[in-house]
Amino acid sequence: MLKNFWYAVEFSAAVRDQPRQVRLMGQDYVLYRDRQGQVIALIDRCIHRGAALSGGWVEGDCIRCPYHGWRYASDGKCVEVPADQTGVPIPKRAKVEPFSVEERYGFIWLFVGDLPSEQRPPIPPFPEFDDPAWRSVSGEYTWNAHYTRVVESGLDSSHAPFVHSVFFHHRNDAEVPPYEVQIDDWTATAKTISKPPKRAGLLKLIVKRDRPFSSATLTVHLPNINRIHLDFNYRGFQYIYFASNIPIDEHTTLTKWIGLRNFLTQPWADWNSRKNTNDTYYEDKAVIESQVPRVVPLTGEILIASDSLQLAYRKLLRKYVEQGWAIGDYGIPTGLIETNGKQAAVVTAG
Ligand code: FES
Ligand SMILES: [Fe+2]
Repeated sequence: MLKNFWYAVEFSAAVRDQPRQVRLMGQDYVLYRDRQGQVIALIDRCIHRGAALSGGWVEGDCIRCPYHGWRYASDGKCVEVPADQTGVPIPKRAKVEPFSVEERYGFIWLFVGDLPSEQRPPIPPFPEFDDPAWRSVSGEYTWNAHYTRVVESGLDSSHAPFVHSVFFHHRNDAEVPPYEVQIDDWTATAKTISKPPKRAGLLKLIVKRDRPFSSATLTVHLPNINRIHLDFNYRGFQYIYFASNIPIDEHTTLTKWIGLRNFLTQPWADWNSRKNTNDTYYEDKAVIESQVPRVVPLTGEILIASDSLQLAYRKLLRKYVEQGWAIGDYGIPTGLIETNGKQAAVVTAG
């Protein structure tokens, strides 16, 4: 993963009055709400004997360890050691690391890194989430794959006729018209035009005629957010898939996704949104879990015109790896990378 980014690690609704454990690149964090409903994030490891605080419970603004009952305040400082006699001072080292959290767009965002708040990349925009014209469903699934491969599949416009031919157009229509990529410091996006998805399932009920094309705007917000915005080219009907592909470790990705649609917004149609997303996942999973190397390589592989968006993603990844923000493997020989003919040291951790 890359440090110094905000990671959407959990759905807001999943963090209630019990501690909640989340994992990011092998590191466990505990989330809980204080009395104001504010989400607190701490390292999920008691400083006393290493028990997981998430196995304990919340008391007011504090969390209590389940093993010997040490109580920690929301800034991570231990404020009570039950086994000590009254008046015994609490050791200064008795604290666990706190982390910045934000709650936005139905997710809890955790910042992992060392940048001061004013220099941090922004939380990616998802303005439709708060717009009542859109109906939302959500879900999650796990991949036995590195998150960069999962993200790239969401930027890949040429695999649909092969991997998703049940829902999308046929493999005889596999040509990808040229498209333009827009890129800034942490986002790459492109609007692609293709044959529309088949008029199958519920789409058959609401889309009354065949259309020559539809569009998909594919976006990556670094390092791990996919946004897929489908416009069915029919009465403004659109679907937005916004997914946080969470790097659990080098081999496992947990995707937490929210799907918004501005058609058939009645609850009874939710199952269809979920089914389409889950079906697509199973189709992708079979291929993505087979990819070698496991991590998207920042050099090598053949990228053609239809892969321009993936190329942009790789360029952005590379930029931050070269900046020393990599935690873990990015397919670059440890310690050295080529930069315009000269070699630069790379700091890798974890
Ligand atoms: S391990 Fe947490 S109080 Fe002892
Ligand atoms: Fe796919």
